Amino acid sequence: MSELNFEEAKSAHIGRRAVLCGAVALALGVSTDIASASSPAVGIKQVGKKLQLELAKNKALAKVGGAVTFDLSDGSSVAIVRTAATTNGFVAMNLSCTHQGVTVVQQGSSWMCPAHGSQFDKSGKVLRGPASQALYKYPVTATAKLVTIG
Ligand code: FES
Repeated sequence: MSELNFEEAKSAHIGRRAVLCGAVALALGVSTDIASASSPAVGIKQVGKKLQLELAKNKALAKVGGAVTFDLSDGSSVAIVRTAATTNGFVAMNLSCTHQGVTVVQQGSSWMCPAHGSQFDKSGKVLRGPASQALYKYPVTATAKLVTIG
């Protein structure tokens, strides 16, 4: 197993999840109970310390507002959201609420926390507390065919 920069960074940000044994493995495509309005991501592969997602296999990302999700080995989930029609118009964020870490769920065009009602916009910005910080975002780059996270 190799370490993934993005999970370590998220763990440091959230400050409550330990990176398992200093290394992580991904469990992909098992997110249907996480964000019912999103699609489970497919075609993700690990490239070095980054993840790459094939756009051709994730049709939900063809439209602005579309999202796909996947799970990490630490039990948290990640969403990739199309926020603009431009090539780099993607956001990748961890779906752990920044209040107390409960996984947020997609509700219409926002993300809701079922624990205490925090609400985040599609890009993870806080719309309503008690959370005061945006959902943790990972670095993202994209081409016409691939989205790279990390
Ligand atoms: S854990 Fe999300 S609002 Fe409290």
